[in-house]
Amino acid sequence: MKISVLGLGYIGLPTSLLLANAGYDIIGVDIDTKVVNTLSNGNLPFEEPGLNDLFKKARNKFKVSTNVESSDVYIIAVPTPLDEEIKIADISYVKNASRSIAKVINHDQLVILESTVPPGTSENVVLPILKDSCSSGFYYAYCPERAIPGKTIYEMVSNDRIIGAINEESYKKAKEIYASFVKGNIYKSNVKTSEFVKLMENTFRDINIALANEFSMIAEEFGIDIWKAIRLANRHPRVDILNPGPGVGGHCLAIDPFFLAGKSKNSRIVKLAREINDFMAFHVVKLTKKMIGDIHNPTITLLGLAYKGNVDDIRESPSLKIKKIAEGEGFNVKVFDPLVKDRSSSCKDINEASVGSDCIILVTDHCEFKNIDPKTLLVRNKNLLDTRNFLDHELWENAGFKVKLLGRS
Ligand SMILES: NC(=O)c1ccc[n+]([C@@H]2O[C@H](COP(=O)([O-])OP(=O)(O)OC[C@H]3O[C@@H](n4cnc5c(N)ncnc54)[C@H](O)[C@@H]3O)[C@@H](O)[C@H]2O)c1
Repeated sequence: MKISVLGLGYIGLPTSLLLANAGYDIIGVDIDTKVVNTLSNGNLPFEEPGLNDLFKKARNKFKVSTNVESSDVYIIAVPTPLDEEIKIADISYVKNASRSIAKVINHDQLVILESTVPPGTSENVVLPILKDSCSSGFYYAYCPERAIPGKTIYEMVSNDRIIGAINEESYKKAKEIYASFVKGNIYKSNVKTSEFVKLMENTFRDINIALANEFSMIAEEFGIDIWKAIRLANRHPRVDILNPGPGVGGHCLAIDPFFLAGKSKNSRIVKLAREINDFMAFHVVKLTKKMIGDIHNPTITLLGLAYKGNVDDIRESPSLKIKKIAEGEGFNVKVFDPLVKDRSSSCKDINEASVGSDCIILVTDHCEFKNIDPKTLLVRNKNLLDTRNFLDHELWENAGFKVKLLGRS
């Protein structure tokens, strides 16, 4: 069976390689020639634990191309960014991918959409495009992805999945594909409900992080340590408060709630949570200003550009927002992220990043930052702001640093 996977990014590539390792003939399709060339040359376009092993083992079952050819199955895993101006989903990539499948689709072939989309996208956008060229007889399912960067392969295999299908035959066909590598349970639903469920999951996380962030700002006002308070509150059997931090990033949590709220007249808390989480970047800059006071030509160092620890993904990262806001306030901002390959936006090492700095701000919880020896840093002023309660504060205090923790006044 030949499967074409459209979009070889964080989701499409691991999916392709898992399917290739399960024995399917995979054609990975991407419109980005750089991605296709990188893979053709035997390299991976990004890092992810376990991906390289799958890539090596899959070689003769995995080919790449910039064009879609007729296949038994098509899986769409293209981006669905946010249209920043009007805060609704930009589904142009999904439309283009659907059009390229429409050119080659035949009866009895199966199309699976994995991209995160607003409810109704399959019904109103994708299916009409496919039906224009193949009026009936093809199968269709929506199967959202739940994997988290840094643990993508593990989660793609272990997590439960939902398949929303247009009919029983489509469900059976899609289930057979996923059952080849998924060890979690597979649940059946309809297409629109599956689209909705995916958005509810990410919105649930975003709202709960917003609640933790709001708690942390209130705790600062009251002179309470939010980290200790959360630990105690979570001793309640039905309470599970998440960790506060510098905001929410990534291609999912920071944008998917808008897909749910964007066109609804009944959404209030979803948009408010987005506002609170986005506000955290301003709050971090405010805390920084308070820490370093009124000095000439202030310089700050952001530890981390990626949106979360131990990954190289900088999409929607709070770090980028903090940098922009701080620069707007007249700060010189230096950034160090050992995992982000593009050195144009990041210093080459911690020494370069910290020399002359007035405040080190831990934004991303990369494990590597735990190895920094604060005694060796040639800063101008010894200030540390930890936005994630991640570093060893005693170590930094013993090195003469004044330590401020987000959520502790
Ligand atoms: N990254 C995650 O952790 C994650 C988790 C769950 C769901 N999702 C969803 O999965 C989808 C894909 O996300 P991603 O992170 O893999 O995106 P990505 O940006 O990493 O990769 C998408 C790839 O699709 C390619 N592409 C764009 N248009 C194409 C077309 N017409 N034909 C073929 N290739 C095309 C791009 O060049 C890119 O390489 C999104 O809808 C996202 O919301 C992502």
